Amino acid sequence: MTNAPHAQLIDGIALSAQLRQNIAQRAHALKARGLTPGLAVLLVGDNPASQVYVRNKVKACEDAGLHSVLERYDANFPEAELLARIEELNHDTSIHGILVQLPLPAHIHAHKVIAAIAPAKDVDGFHVANAGALLLGQPGFLPCTPYGVMKMLASIGCDVRGKHAVVLGRSNIVGKPMALMLLQQHATVTVCHSHTANLKAITLQADIIVAAVGKRNTLTRDMVKPGAVVIDVGMNRIPEGEEGAGKLCGDVDFAGVSQVAGYITPVPGGVGPMTITMLLTNTLEAAEREASWLETSTEATI
Ligand code: GUN
Repeated sequence: MTNAPHAQLIDGIALSAQLRQNIAQRAHALKARGLTPGLAVLLVGDNPASQVYVRNKVKACEDAGLHSVLERYDANFPEAELLARIEELNHDTSIHGILVQLPLPAHIHAHKVIAAIAPAKDVDGFHVANAGALLLGQPGFLPCTPYGVMKMLASIGCDVRGKHAVVLGRSNIVGKPMALMLLQQHATVTVCHSHTANLKAITLQADIIVAAVGKRNTLTRDMVKPGAVVIDVGMNRIPEGEEGAGKLCGDVDFAGVSQVAGYITPVPGGVGPMTITMLLTNTLEAAEREASWLETSTEATI
């Protein structure tokens, strides 16, 4: 038996670069019409991972020619003030997308904060109006991580119609919207979680597996059907005392699973960059919708 990896890599950095070129062109075209797409990123507290994420988001905006502002607040910033600031941004015509980085400190209710964001500026796709639109198959904003996963599947020509897709994890940010997007594209979807009995029996039937649990080595080689497409959404650190301590890793045992899978995404360099790319896409989309609305309303008044 050979130990050579079998799976082909789905490169999130290369795919992102391609998509961001198109985003930059569209942003340029909008600017030529006098509208610069703008994103406001709000960070409360000093969670080190969140600090890295928001910096990457703002940097990606700048690189693609989008306007962005990063607002940082102390960990004890009052919830009422955060809600008031969001209300101001809802009415700020230079801002088309508002993102409040999660998790928030314990004294702030995330659902209240998300509900305060105008659905037309909710580029995270977390507001109930956008979550409901996804559920009903209506237009809205799609959450960036599962949206990026769908783009990755499309990039390898993977038509999910009729395929058995298994989603590991049921979070509001990834698992649930992921399942809905796959369902929308006619996959047969199974959602597994911490209470699922006999996980391996289910994953072994999967044509597509999306792992979004937040725990490394959740998916191992013995759990994967030969040729399956494996997407790793996990973002974990290898603990002290183990080989590669401190390095990033996903939920999938990459070395083992890449021996049997048909395609696999790496961590880092897989889903992570795609999440940011889809945030840029949603922000641009928000600005484009505003531009077309402005044109329509101007025409209506002539
Ligand atoms: N925290 C982890 N992922 C995300 C995300 O996609 N958006 C926001 N706002 N916070 C997050």
